[in-house]
Amino acid sequence: MARVGLVMGSDSDWPVLEPGYRLLGELGLEAEVLVASAHRTPEEVRRFAEEAEARGFCAIIAGAGAAAHLPGVVASFTTLPVIGVPVSGSALNGLDALLSIVQMPPGIPVAAMAVDGGRNAALFAASIAALGDPETAARLAGFRRRQAEGVRAKNQALQAKLRA
Ligand code: RP5
Repeated sequence: MARVGLVMGSDSDWPVLEPGYRLLGELGLEAEVLVASAHRTPEEVRRFAEEAEARGFCAIIAGAGAAAHLPGVVASFTTLPVIGVPVSGSALNGLDALLSIVQMPPGIPVAAMAVDGGRNAALFAASIAALGDPETAARLAGFRRRQAEGVRAKNQALQAKLRA
């Protein structure tokens, strides 16, 4: 079973990341969750990132708000792909976190999701896992099929309402 690391700067970030955690489970991915802060508990962040490869993670999701340096710091300690999730709730509504993550200086890249994009982070992690795991690839394809069916059903319902 493919494994993903999921780290967040505070438990206050969990409501944004939990939907992604649940989705990882639906896609058959095992996630190891940690609250650790790049500025408040930097030693834990470093340990988590340095041990990530040995723990078998294919990717790390890192969510943080405000001056969100967590994803970049995690990425500095591992060459595994790091998926950053900017979390809203700050005075700047997540724009600060978005810019902190998307504007990583050259050399240590971080993939940047949308503000509060916990579910997309899970899907991106699944895409990475699917590269080496046909079962995950099949589950991801199934997710997309069901999602497309949902859109078509909404279109049909709207068309029916317009015709009524
Ligand atoms: C960031 O500061 C965390 O990622 C969180 O989004 C924000 C606020 O943290 P708390 O004050 O809720 O612990 O480091």
